[in-house]
Amino acid sequence: MSRRPIVAGNWKMHGTVSSVEQLVNGLLESELSALNCDVAVCPPALYVAQVQQLVADSMINVGTQNCSPFEQGAYTGEISAKMSADIGCKYVILGHSERRTLFAESDEVIAEKVAAVLEAGLVPVFCVGETLEQREGNETLDVITQQLNVVADKIGNDKLVELVIAYEPVWAIGTGKTASPEQAQEVHAAIRRWLASRSESAAAEVRIVYGGSVKAANATELFAQADIDGGLIGGAALDANEFYQICKAAG
Ligand code: 13P
Repeated sequence: MSRRPIVAGNWKMHGTVSSVEQLVNGLLESELSALNCDVAVCPPALYVAQVQQLVADSMINVGTQNCSPFEQGAYTGEISAKMSADIGCKYVILGHSERRTLFAESDEVIAEKVAAVLEAGLVPVFCVGETLEQREGNETLDVITQQLNVVADKIGNDKLVELVIAYEPVWAIGTGKTASPEQAQEVHAAIRRWLASRSESAAAEVRIVYGGSVKAANATELFAQADIDGGLIGGAALDANEFYQICKAAG
């Protein structure tokens, strides 16, 4: 079984025109293209066009961090999946725990967004994960299965193969507290078993990436796990060398 690893940088709400230029130039100077790894960066939407121009002749793909569930119309402040496609993006991050908790996104809204992204011909990077309270209450697998079921029921099992799934334990995001490779692998294996119950080809092909305080120092161990196919990187994606080292650990 050979799934090509993927590492994506989620820049969240960070950056300026000049810091974006510096970061992307740093990435372009590294030897990302020599790696056996898909690489994507997901800047704030306002900087996507700038990043697209800078990476145009490279293997770096670009994604957005969210999209509207609607196609177009009077939705002030929203950006559609088709707009992300139009500007040349390949990925859209959806269901991030910051969107779920800070912006009250329900499983149902996230499922609509995943459907919109697939309709636009892009790859959803669909995030799932449990809170510390849920982990301590032994609810991790139930919570994740519920998050997955709502999306699968909306898009249909045949479409699951088109997803990248990111497992991001909420307690590990931005806290410096990484899931141990064994803790992460346990959940990744459970996600793959869930995929198999829906679609054998999805179970074989879908990349399940880990996110939550991934750094160059812990990436190798995490990515060595059988069902961890790369990473979704927050803070460490804002440093070109650190991000390159993480990509190197994956590919
Ligand atoms: P950190 O890598 O900063 O913990 O963030 C992870 C994340 O939320 C990526 O989407």
